[in-house]
Amino acid sequence: MATQFQSHVCKFLLLFILQCIITTTTLAQAPAPAPSGPTNITKILEKAGQFTTLMRLFKLTQVGDQINTQLNNSNQGMTVFAPTDNAFSALKSGTLNSLSDQQKVELLQFHVLPQYLTTSQFQTISNPLRTQAGDSASNKFPLNITSSGNQVNVTTGVVDTTVANTIYTDGSLAVYQVDKVLLPMDLFGPPSPAPAPTPEKKKKSGADDDTPATDDSTPSADASGAVGFGGHLHGFMVGSVGVITLIALFCL
Ligand SMILES: *[C@@H]1O[C@H](CO)[C@@H](O)[C@H](O)[C@H]1NC(C)=O
Ligand SMILES: *[C@@H]1O[C@H](CO)[C@@H](O)[C@H](O)[C@H]1NC(C)=O
Ligand SMILES: *[C@@H]1O[C@H](CO)[C@@H](O)[C@H](O)[C@H]1NC(C)=O
Ligand SMILES: *[C@@H]1O[C@H](CO)[C@@H](O)[C@H](O)[C@H]1NC(C)=O
Repeated sequence: MATQFQSHVCKFLLLFILQCIITTTTLAQAPAPAPSGPTNITKILEKAGQFTTLMRLFKLTQVGDQINTQLNNSNQGMTVFAPTDNAFSALKSGTLNSLSDQQKVELLQFHVLPQYLTTSQFQTISNPLRTQAGDSASNKFPLNITSSGNQVNVTTGVVDTTVANTIYTDGSLAVYQVDKVLLPMDLFGPPSPAPAPTPEKKKKSGADDDTPATDDSTPSADASGAVGFGGHLHGFMVGSVGVITLIALFCL
């Protein structure tokens, strides 16, 4: 039986729900939020998973920041070849530890091209390509890419591999997965004949990094903020209709 108290509660609840709906609808009509700020290579790799070693090295060498800054300041765009964690684990043990800090920077920069290249552009580029590691004057740190059909071959003179997957493209940044670390000739090529061989004693594996991929709780892709909001709104509407129905039943 509907007491007076009950009907007061009903009125209050209905008004409250109405207010909520009006507020939400108004919010939904506001322009969609701009897609999350400047491009962040770390974020992209984090989202893709299986690139924790690369992320760590990008941070250590600050090459990640260089990429972000350069993307923001140039209109050439960039292309990044991203070796997986497995690619790093597959390196001969001590490979990374044998490099000086400067050489680590060069190794990472070798995976970055100062231009945006789509997979179809790979078919028409002329080799060797300049990487971020080579200064423009000399022909240091060249990388060769050949492509036909869906296959994109990448060769450094030390390592041959193929593009395994496209991780990200947005018109100015392209990130391609490679299953081998691209070892540049300049660091890993046959030693120049003159000097005596350096002792082979190297530290234990430095390449391993079994840190599990960081859990990324954001479900949707970068540019889909509006879609995500729409989804929530839809859920809210459905929920509200349910609640109103319940209240109506309660009040009758
Ligand atoms: C880029 O993303 C990473 C991981 O999400 C975050 O830690 C870092 O602060 C971001 N950098 C910038 C400049 O936003
Ligand atoms: C991007 O460039 C703009 C102007 O060119 C500058 O104001 C802004 O600070 C830059 N952002 C980053 C993250 O470098
Ligand atoms: C890519 O490499 C494979 C294996 O070495 C070879 O068979 C193929 O012809 C190469 N494709 C191109 C376009 O260079
Ligand atoms: C890269 O391509 C250039 C030009 O075709 C060639 O001269 C050079 O030998 C190639 N290097 C490798 C490692 O394939």
